[in-house]
Amino acid sequence: MTGQSRANPPIGSSSGKPADLPGAGPLPLDLLPDSAQFGRDGRLSVAACDLVDLAGEFGTPLVVYDEDHIRARCRDAVEVFGDDAAAYAVKAFTCRAMIRLAHEEGMLLNVATGGELHAALSADFPADRVVMHGSNKSRRELADALRAGVGRIVVEGFDELSLLDHVARDLRCRPSVLVRVTPDVRPPTHPYISTSGADSRFGFTISSGAAERAVKQARASGSMNLVGIHAHIGSQILELDPFRQTVAALGDFINSLDRPDELEELWVGGGLGVAYEAGQQAPSISQWGSSILSAATAAGINGRVCAEPGRSVVAQAAVALYTVGTVKEVPGLGTYVAVDGGLTDNPRPAMYGSRYEAFLPRSVVTERDWNATVIGKLCESGDVLIRDAHLPHDLEVGDVLGIPVAGAYSYAMASNYIKMPRPAVVFVRDGESRPVIRRETYEDLLRLDL
Ligand code: LLP
Repeated sequence: MTGQSRANPPIGSSSGKPADLPGAGPLPLDLLPDSAQFGRDGRLSVAACDLVDLAGEFGTPLVVYDEDHIRARCRDAVEVFGDDAAAYAVKAFTCRAMIRLAHEEGMLLNVATGGELHAALSADFPADRVVMHGSNKSRRELADALRAGVGRIVVEGFDELSLLDHVARDLRCRPSVLVRVTPDVRPPTHPYISTSGADSRFGFTISSGAAERAVKQARASGSMNLVGIHAHIGSQILELDPFRQTVAALGDFINSLDRPDELEELWVGGGLGVAYEAGQQAPSISQWGSSILSAATAAGINGRVCAEPGRSVVAQAAVALYTVGTVKEVPGLGTYVAVDGGLTDNPRPAMYGSRYEAFLPRSVVTERDWNATVIGKLCESGDVLIRDAHLPHDLEVGDVLGIPVAGAYSYAMASNYIKMPRPAVVFVRDGESRPVIRRETYEDLLRLDL
């Protein structure tokens, strides 16, 4: 099949001739990692590593991270919030290489489970620089965290407060604790990742008085040292206002308490969004941090303001590479382009309706004047990576297809449904590639079977 002969009306919502497609045009280069460059032939390299060659060397699906891009974002966070005030939220992308990198760049670490704590400790991350989060933490998770000597434990509810009190007494230690509160700020984001309405499942609600009672209980317990207040309003938030409102609400709350100056730290969570699509704009980490710090000053907060970004550190650092396996035209209705991954390596489109762009790394400057729906290998109609994607019309079976901004919550949320092995992950830097997670093998898929 030649590209020119392809029909344009898509499987999906929009239709149109090539010239009518909104957003057609080459991939906007600002969606790519910092060190992305293309040659005269239009081939894309990241950190001087050619993406098509990497796909050939490591196979696909493959996730390629620009290591210097991640380092630069970590440094931005440490610079704006200050030393010991910026934690990387490992849930966005975890592996030992990433944990070590975050440590080298001066970040603290936010872990959300005993499993993430284990990963951090196994990468020799200093326990006293770990902030232990988690919904519904188990006795074992709390005990492991206390035995390891984590720097802070974020308490989410009254049952957890009592459990922590027991565990700390049993182990004869006195953990530093943050009380997580919900200030009833509703940021514009997908409801699944909005976490701070008054009806939220997370933390102690300020408006009901629960947050104040939690502070009193933690202070009265004697088994823990209350060092501050924590809030996290949600994720993929592209505006600064919800963060300012949060800080203002937290300032009011803290200043309404007895002895507010004893609260040394105010944690404002993560949540800063990134641009995934042409035309989207996101504040930088520095802009985000500066606006939070000014809001804190305006709110009369004296303690240290700390943050825990995840997505904004890693999302744009990575490009996911796939190989096109089939192209199916449905006459009059559109075209499906199937790749060798799918919702198993990136469930975000299926879970949150998230949108991505796609391009051909063999020619990143080519107009994307053809419209097709990029699907995965799964036996489900919902296995759509990009509905109505803009693609170059000369795309062919066998091409390597790139999806930018693939560094956060995609590999991290990957699964083995239909026994799909998870992709390999490589870090690239100064012309060198270094595998940091190997591709799963079929044998790996059986290793838990008894
Ligand atoms: N702190 C806490 C307490 C969190 O729960 C999270 C993310 C973060 C920090 C980091 O937030 P970030 O800077 O990455 O927005 N799977 C979803 C995102 C879930 C975020 C969960 N919590 C997605 O793919 O959009």
